Amino acid sequence: MGEGKLPAHVAVIMDGNGRWAKKRLLPRSAGHRAGMKRMIGLSEHIFDRGVRYCTLFALSTENLSRPQEELDGLFALLREYFPENAEILRNKNITLKVIGDRSLLPEDVVSVIEAGERRTEGGTRGTLVLAIGYGGRQDILAAVNRAVREGKEVTMEQFSAMLSTGDMPAPDLLIRTGKELRISNFLLWQAAYSELYFTDVLFPDFSDAELDKALEAFSRRDRRFGRT
Ligand code: FPP
Repeated sequence: MGEGKLPAHVAVIMDGNGRWAKKRLLPRSAGHRAGMKRMIGLSEHIFDRGVRYCTLFALSTENLSRPQEELDGLFALLREYFPENAEILRNKNITLKVIGDRSLLPEDVVSVIEAGERRTEGGTRGTLVLAIGYGGRQDILAAVNRAVREGKEVTMEQFSAMLSTGDMPAPDLLIRTGKELRISNFLLWQAAYSELYFTDVLFPDFSDAELDKALEAFSRRDRRFGRT
């Protein structure tokens, strides 16, 4: 890495697990397992680079319409890896937070998530946010409905604070792996001025070196936020 600017908040759309498995003639579940392992590796490495907030898109609201067998596999991975990952994060003084609609997840998965959040509470070195059962439009709509219920008009700052990422700065850098060039209902409001970085690399192959390339690219960007 050069001496350039560093993003405080990096968000990642982790795409390409299925294709990674297909290329190896493996079932999709093997791709998700490889993705899960990579997700853990990445979440350890990124804070060592000085990033303060990292938000990973693990499962969108729309992903929850995938075949039950695939979803069961993903939930099994969460049950298997979440406690261990929370322990690693606690030892690294990193707070783990999950955003998304928990009512869409199996109850025991919610318990595992909540235990992980409690275990890492108060970590001051950084915050890892996992978006599970998350949708950007749903996040915005929930905040709008809350404002309507409270019968008040809100400023942009107040509205930002009502979103599920309310206590964090907006992402400076948004990475998408796996070749597709879209945002797919991730942090729609929050990403208004994020720098976008797309790579063909499939998520299980998105190594620490690939992350460093993205950080390097960010350091060369000229951010003007609409000004001259
Ligand atoms: C996209 O790959 C990835 C996902 C839908 C989930 C991301 C999941 C992980 C990184 C594993 C850990 C997370 C959980 C929730 C256990 P894809 O299946 O869309 O790949 P494709 O586009 O190549 O088919």
